[in-house]
Amino acid sequence: MVTQDSSAKTYAPDEAFTAQAVGQSTLFDDAEADREGFWATQARERISWSTDFDQTLDWSNAPFARWFVGGELNVSYNCVDRHVEAGNGERVAIHFEGDQGDTRTITYADLQQEVSKTANALAELGVGKGDRVAIYMPMIPETVFTMLACARLGAPHSVVFGGFAADALRTRVIDAEAKVVVTTDGQWRRGKPAPLKATVDEALAVTEGKEDADSVTNVLIVKRTDSPVDWVEGRDVWWHEFVDGQSAEHTPEPMDSEHPLFILYTSGTTGKPKGILHTSGGYLVQNAYANAVVHDVHPETDVYWCTADVGWVTGHSYLVYGPLANGATQVVYEGTPDTPHQGRWWEIVQKYGVSILYTAPTAIRTFMKWGDDIPAKYDLSSIRVLGSVGEPINPEAWRWFRDHIGAGKAPIVDTWWQTETGGIMISPLPGVTTLEPGSAQRPIPGIKAEILDDEGQRLTDPGAVGYLVLTEPWPGMLRTIWGDDERYKDTYWSRFGPEFYFAGDGARYDEDGNIWVLGRVDDVMNVSGHRLSTAEIESALVSHPRVAEAAVVGATDEMTGQAVCAFVILRSEGADAGGAEGEELIQELRSHVGKEIGPIAKPRQVMIVPELPKTRSGKIMRRLLKDVAENREVGDVSTLADSSVMNLIQDGMGKPAS
Ligand code: WT7
Repeated sequence: MVTQDSSAKTYAPDEAFTAQAVGQSTLFDDAEADREGFWATQARERISWSTDFDQTLDWSNAPFARWFVGGELNVSYNCVDRHVEAGNGERVAIHFEGDQGDTRTITYADLQQEVSKTANALAELGVGKGDRVAIYMPMIPETVFTMLACARLGAPHSVVFGGFAADALRTRVIDAEAKVVVTTDGQWRRGKPAPLKATVDEALAVTEGKEDADSVTNVLIVKRTDSPVDWVEGRDVWWHEFVDGQSAEHTPEPMDSEHPLFILYTSGTTGKPKGILHTSGGYLVQNAYANAVVHDVHPETDVYWCTADVGWVTGHSYLVYGPLANGATQVVYEGTPDTPHQGRWWEIVQKYGVSILYTAPTAIRTFMKWGDDIPAKYDLSSIRVLGSVGEPINPEAWRWFRDHIGAGKAPIVDTWWQTETGGIMISPLPGVTTLEPGSAQRPIPGIKAEILDDEGQRLTDPGAVGYLVLTEPWPGMLRTIWGDDERYKDTYWSRFGPEFYFAGDGARYDEDGNIWVLGRVDDVMNVSGHRLSTAEIESALVSHPRVAEAAVVGATDEMTGQAVCAFVILRSEGADAGGAEGEELIQELRSHVGKEIGPIAKPRQVMIVPELPKTRSGKIMRRLLKDVAENREVGDVSTLADSSVMNLIQDGMGKPAS
């Protein structure tokens, strides 16, 4: 369906939409007049505190922030119990749709019982306030119960994406010193069961040459696929035997506003992932607020669906904490978009009457490729707000989304934020902002951002490209990197001095003052909206016996935004690998990365080269490799230690294998 304004440059909000919108333009005025006062109001209006706070922000020990100082709350109480107490126990919290078409309807009253049982079970396993719990699970209700049970006990969780491999899980368990790991026997993937508990066993096994994950006392296992499991006596516990029989009553204990809520690992510029630490009060306030005003959630009438996996921050903030704090009704879907058919998502939208859909550009581009006729078969008339997150959305995909999913009229909120920011930072407000496809536009009320040049001077001229920074602390901000305060300061607060949070993204303004985020300026890639570090993949490649050296770059990819491209130098004994043997080795190296980190990190291409381009100080010039990977003419080679290297690479490479 193509509507009248489909080629327009901008899209003003519809009057009727504005009239009912949660987020009104007065929010900007209020935040501008008194930013801290604004956040204090959001905190008191949206969240229930067992003890009110006496200071909104303590920034005296910057960059270590304390928000809502002196306040006490229980995050799980806010997401569950208070809705039941307010008489909304019968409201559906979660419409669960399984991969196999199995469904489960969970009301807020049900959620209270399930979370209480889980909290009692974890407590019986010895989990107390401050203990860490690793969660390695697919998208099933028990995953949400476990996260909320941890929050209830004040035991920070560390959710590890179910697509990560054993070694990635091992390092995360070790870094957080997790006491319990919660998992499933297996997970459904495209209609087939895939083992999951086996990966936990491998991650926890004492292995020569690897550090032991010996902090773990128990593994709690949900039976999901009926896959056979190897049992470790004394350590392993079945969920159905242990949790289901627990008391359905549990009293949530108030926690300090700054009590750690969770650790979530994300890739940085080195091989070691960063454990991003989020705390309770500020994180919950920002996410309840942003979910309400950006997604325009009306909990009594909306059916909200965030398609992100809980293994990523979007799943934490906009599937678990934000919408549940708001008492929303939402869809949780376990499966993939094309199982059993390519209309699966639209079938779900039609079935539950989804009114707000929050997803990623890579998914939208995939649906575009599959064809307009697929969504056209379903009744999508319930949709009234669309959201995008994870990477810049190209205007073409934006327009397709609005026309074919949003009936040519649903506002799209393009939300820029990061694991570190905890919540949405730059985004339109759907009832206020005149939308401009491709741009995340302005900081939301209460948030401050700027663009700086190399010297740290503020850029204001349209078109000038610089670095995106945040200029004021915000409630949902990370508090530190778990166990590494120095790395926290170095990574985020040193590039432009201690007053500016350096986001790692390039950005520019347009003539209308809208911010266009251009992507990472550091050695971090963004593949399908997921963050991967070049260094992490390089070290996985180098761990293969045939590889001497490796360099990885993110090359532009039509579907996934960026794709992983690897250049490797072989050890001398195999350096002449060519032809069929070379092809085999390339496939082996790709699967090796898949095994070490996880399938998402598998390079799209591996190119065997005789040399890598380096500066005189030995730093790999990824810019030049990117030119090769993107089939461009190679740029300026004057700073190379040996400027003939690029010729060698291009001549020796032949046709890139894919
Ligand atoms: C990086 C953060 C935020 C949750 C998912 C990703 C990129 C994210 C946008 C957007 C342009 C975006 C940035 C950012 N990014 N959203 N709307 N427009 N770029 O979280 O893994 O922490 O990655 O994703 O480069 O720095 P993450």
